Amino acid sequence: MRRSVVAGNWKMYGSGSMIEGLVTALAASVATDACDVIVSPPFPYLSLVQQLAKGTGIGLAGQNCSAFEPGAHTGEVAAAMLADIGCQWVILGHSERRQAGETDSEVAAKAAAARQAGLQPILCVGETLEQRQSGDAVAVVTAQLEALVVDLAAGDMIAYEPVWAIGTGETATPEQAQEMHSEIRAFLAKHQPALAEDTRLLYGGSVKADNAAALFAEQDIDGGLVGGASLQADDFAAIVRAAP
Ligand code: 13P
Repeated sequence: MRRSVVAGNWKMYGSGSMIEGLVTALAASVATDACDVIVSPPFPYLSLVQQLAKGTGIGLAGQNCSAFEPGAHTGEVAAAMLADIGCQWVILGHSERRQAGETDSEVAAKAAAARQAGLQPILCVGETLEQRQSGDAVAVVTAQLEALVVDLAAGDMIAYEPVWAIGTGETATPEQAQEMHSEIRAFLAKHQPALAEDTRLLYGGSVKADNAAALFAEQDIDGGLVGGASLQADDFAAIVRAAP
């Protein structure tokens, strides 16, 4: 049985006061007994969130990490630093980073560094609208997975985030999402049979309070990676309640 997970990706949003209010409200409204609840603030606020969320059961993820060991890499954040500050997870290969030039092999190297530091990567894959319309969605996602599957480890999660559904208000239907999740699980079964059944697959792309339950009801959707709606405590708490 795979435990549900709802992760909030705050992207490059927030301020000290906004985040203080958000975490305080989440701590009062989110139940973490049946579901892993994770938030992923921008780096400068990780410590603040770690302190505010202490004892609530809300977990912490970085939004990225360096592929390198701590050293002379100005502007980078080492996976070990995220672990040190209380993160258990790190989001890697988000499409917004891939659009900025991050490659499959860089994502794989970052995932290796994350595991080395004791973090569990949330590995993002997903196709663009153009790729979906030309019938290449499965091939694109499979190619992204090829780079990641070799070193996949127990505890890693995969987030399917169709680029056309991110921040657009347009969600994949539960059927479309399930179809891709089932392709992803079949791919894992072929390449990492021991991990296929237990690896949690998250859907991301305009997950909202009113569509979460239908998405999470699908067999291979184990939870969500939520952007915009994770910045509103009421909305995020409702999405967590929708998780089985
Ligand atoms: P939205 O929920 O705002 O579409 O963002 C999804 C996402 O990118 C989560 O990582």
